[in-house]
Amino acid sequence: MKTRNPKTFHVKSFGCQMNVYDGERMAELLEADGLTAAAAGEAADLVVLNTCHIREKAAEKVYSDIGRLMKRAPGEAAPMIAVAGCVAQAEGAEIPRRAPGVDIVVGPQAYHNLPELVRRAKAGERALDTDMPPLSKFGAFPARRRQGPSAFLTVQEGCDKFCTYCVVPYTRGAELSRPFAAIVDEARALVDAGAKEITLLGQNVNAWRDGERGLDALIRALGSIPGLARIRYTTSHPGDMTEGLIRAHAEVEKLMPFLHLPVQSGSDRVLKAMNRSHDAASYLRILDRVRAARPDIALSGDFIVGFPGETDTEFEETLRLVAQVNYAQAFSFKYSPRPGTPAAAMEDQIPAEVMDERLQRLQALLNAQQLAFNQASVGRRTEVLLERAGRKPGQLIGKSPWLQSVHLESDARIGDLVEVELLSAGPNSLAGKTVIPAKAGISGRKVSAGLHEAPAFAGATA
Ligand code: SAH
Ligand code: SF4
Ligand code: F3S
Repeated sequence: MKTRNPKTFHVKSFGCQMNVYDGERMAELLEADGLTAAAAGEAADLVVLNTCHIREKAAEKVYSDIGRLMKRAPGEAAPMIAVAGCVAQAEGAEIPRRAPGVDIVVGPQAYHNLPELVRRAKAGERALDTDMPPLSKFGAFPARRRQGPSAFLTVQEGCDKFCTYCVVPYTRGAELSRPFAAIVDEARALVDAGAKEITLLGQNVNAWRDGERGLDALIRALGSIPGLARIRYTTSHPGDMTEGLIRAHAEVEKLMPFLHLPVQSGSDRVLKAMNRSHDAASYLRILDRVRAARPDIALSGDFIVGFPGETDTEFEETLRLVAQVNYAQAFSFKYSPRPGTPAAAMEDQIPAEVMDERLQRLQALLNAQQLAFNQASVGRRTEVLLERAGRKPGQLIGKSPWLQSVHLESDARIGDLVEVELLSAGPNSLAGKTVIPAKAGISGRKVSAGLHEAPAFAGATA
């Protein structure tokens, strides 16, 4: 038995932060259409699986989820199922062929049509929409609803870089920037709805432009929105790291001292085969300029091990680059061949055991750097934006300017910016105690002037 008239919904997002943003917008659309978000733990009548296609494991997950949803308790109707996101775009009509329980398939550039697709599914039709009308979804969204302290805002979609391993240019389409005015309006609406921090999102967020204006101009404009305390952006490509954006790190008080700049490999031969537009030395030179502009900046990156043809020596070059940079945080992955990408057809695919061993060595180094970065913060005072309740009674969890999770016991409220003394550090979080409850409306370095210092970096780059 299958639900045909959904009243409640649940959106489950996988993959990157842009999917989280899309998931929120889909929820707002469904609410505006009269549906209600299912309570936590409650079985929803409509389940939207907002999927990720980046690696095989992520893409296959959707099928086990569908299987589970179709097997609800005896007597309980199976929900209406919508598959959204990048698997929907990549596999389209293949999805209901493989999983007949799926009622709706909707791509990442078409989900503004979700309410209409639900109506068609109610009528018993199988509804599919994977069109890519440029940016039209943004014009169709309802107003932003109540926000937590930290909000995502997609400013740029798609990718023209065509790294040879990557599906994103196919699943998200061409690089497109939303207009300046629409973004500033949405940022104001997010702040009015409770956001204190905004993270600007794009697959290549630093490629954002509107006429003469680049991302730095957008960041400066958001910097003058009253009530907005912190600005972040992710993910950036080394090829789009402009002088203006680097300068913004020195000059815009609300821009947090954190940069996620994926390099993928330390080997120039591998980088070339990946069709990355930079080499190891040009990447390190960019980091030098960023550190000169903002000496306390925390760096993060993405790495792929076991790209086709990667030799032991080339992998060692990745380890060497990591040792030179000294990352505060990082994501590392085993290469996963993706259908339709050039690298999937390359010779010399690396055996799984070799990839496992390389990933372990890389992660051991990255984890040690992350722990050292956190430990170097102990004893310092810094500003924390409180984002959610912790597991223990009275415990709150927030983020430092360097994106570290900080746990503390405090009678401050979620959404407050508080001065915290950092007492101890683990690999993934720090513990602290409130020193001064921050006043409303303060931000960034102003409140912390002379108070916090950056955790020390041992690494020199070039
Ligand atoms: N646009 C961003 C992020 C893209 S996806 C960028 O260019 O940096 C996030 C990360 O997933 C990538 O940085 C890469 O490290 C990893 N990734 C992408 N395709 C992959 C693949 N086929 N196998 C393994 N990791 C992959
Ligand atoms: Fe994928 Fe490369 Fe584009 Fe990033 S820049 S989304 S890794 S193709
Ligand atoms: Fe995954 Fe699509 Fe994001 S493939 S990483 S959800 S852009």
